Amino acid sequence: MKLKSLLVLPLAAFMTVLAGCGNADSSTSGSGESANAMVVYFSATGNTEEVARIIADYIDGPIHELEPVDPYTSEDLNYGDSDSRVSLERNDPDHLTELVAVDFDEFDESEYIFLGAPVWWGELSWVINDFVLSNDFTGETIIPFATASSSNFSVDDLRYLSDEATWMEGRRFRQSEINEENVHGWIDGLDINF
Ligand SMILES: Cc1cc2nc3c(=O)[nH]c(=O)nc-3n(C[C@H](O)[C@H](O)[C@H](O)COP(=O)(O)O)c2cc1C
Repeated sequence: MKLKSLLVLPLAAFMTVLAGCGNADSSTSGSGESANAMVVYFSATGNTEEVARIIADYIDGPIHELEPVDPYTSEDLNYGDSDSRVSLERNDPDHLTELVAVDFDEFDESEYIFLGAPVWWGELSWVINDFVLSNDFTGETIIPFATASSSNFSVDDLRYLSDEATWMEGRRFRQSEINEENVHGWIDGLDINF
């Protein structure tokens, strides 16, 4: 009995210390332990915006929308029409969609940038290109995300946009998968303390 109580007491004390550590780690008091992250997205019809908002709320970080100087109308987006704006842009290797100039205060201090867009013809929409090409991502990690009816995108098609960035694989959400549970589960699985 005596030996048992000798063991139990230090164990209880140890557990108390552990619990205390846990509380400190999970505090949001700005202890500097959580990674700085922001969300940047383009969304033509609102689906990717929905995911972007869920991410930003969950990580409690800033969110910025990328806006084309010349916004896409629903006619522009008609990918069934070979003369529509998106079809013509897709077939022009030199095309770059110009974005409204942005200067995000949080950009330089962000270690992680969630970068979202719809999947267009099996790739992350080229509308994000202007943003990636015109910024220096040294020391930063890009986490791409997308929404689509069904197709996925590959991060390998994006790497050429920035040599300095560390690119993570990212995630595509089918429209039917857009909800807090799925987005939170994905972020938890990244194993990064945001
Ligand atoms: C030009 C264009 C191309 C698309 N290509 C694909 C595709 O290849 N695969 C797919 O599953 N969905 C495709 N879609 C559907 C979009 O990816 C889907 O509706 C997405 O959720 C739209 O996101 P948004 O509302 O943020 O713009 C395409 C849509 C457009 C307008």
